[in-house]
Amino acid sequence: MTREPKLLDIRIYGDHILRQTAAEISEIDDELKEFAADLVHTMYLRDGVGLAAPQVGVSKRIIAIDPFWGRDNDKRDPLVMINPAIESYAGETETEEGCISVPEIYAKVTRPSEVRVSYTDLDGETQMVQYAGFPAVVVQHELDHLNGVLFTDHLGTLAKLQVLRKLKAMEKLAVDGVNIRGED
Ligand code: NI
Repeated sequence: MTREPKLLDIRIYGDHILRQTAAEISEIDDELKEFAADLVHTMYLRDGVGLAAPQVGVSKRIIAIDPFWGRDNDKRDPLVMINPAIESYAGETETEEGCISVPEIYAKVTRPSEVRVSYTDLDGETQMVQYAGFPAVVVQHELDHLNGVLFTDHLGTLAKLQVLRKLKAMEKLAVDGVNIRGED
């Protein structure tokens, strides 16, 4: 790695890239490693515990997560997952979720409470992790982004009605590739 990581622009609800199915990654080259560093850098600067490539305009199957950051401690322990896949899940949990690509909307989402996830790491090795509770929610939320799914898609009819007006307003303002909020 020769350069400093960059802060990437965040794509906002209504941007079509957020609705695309991201492409499998077949080669881990220097370009991908630099992108992974940018993704991690952007995740922390945007105060997130997870960030998926489509959220920064790259339709590839790679996510960064650090579900323990800012909760248990301030120690950064980022995990980059390439081509992640949920191998099994169990249980059920309800968590209030938000998303940097869906600003100012928070809602309770029901998901499996335990997941086993396989992925390829930046060295090209296949890995398997098992999460329960909040980390399991984070990894499912980020993995959804690779399939064009947003957390608001999981809401029930009533909860969806409550956020529909805000979502419609965001969609109306959306321009592909442009962060309508600009830099904070
Ligand atoms: Ni998100």
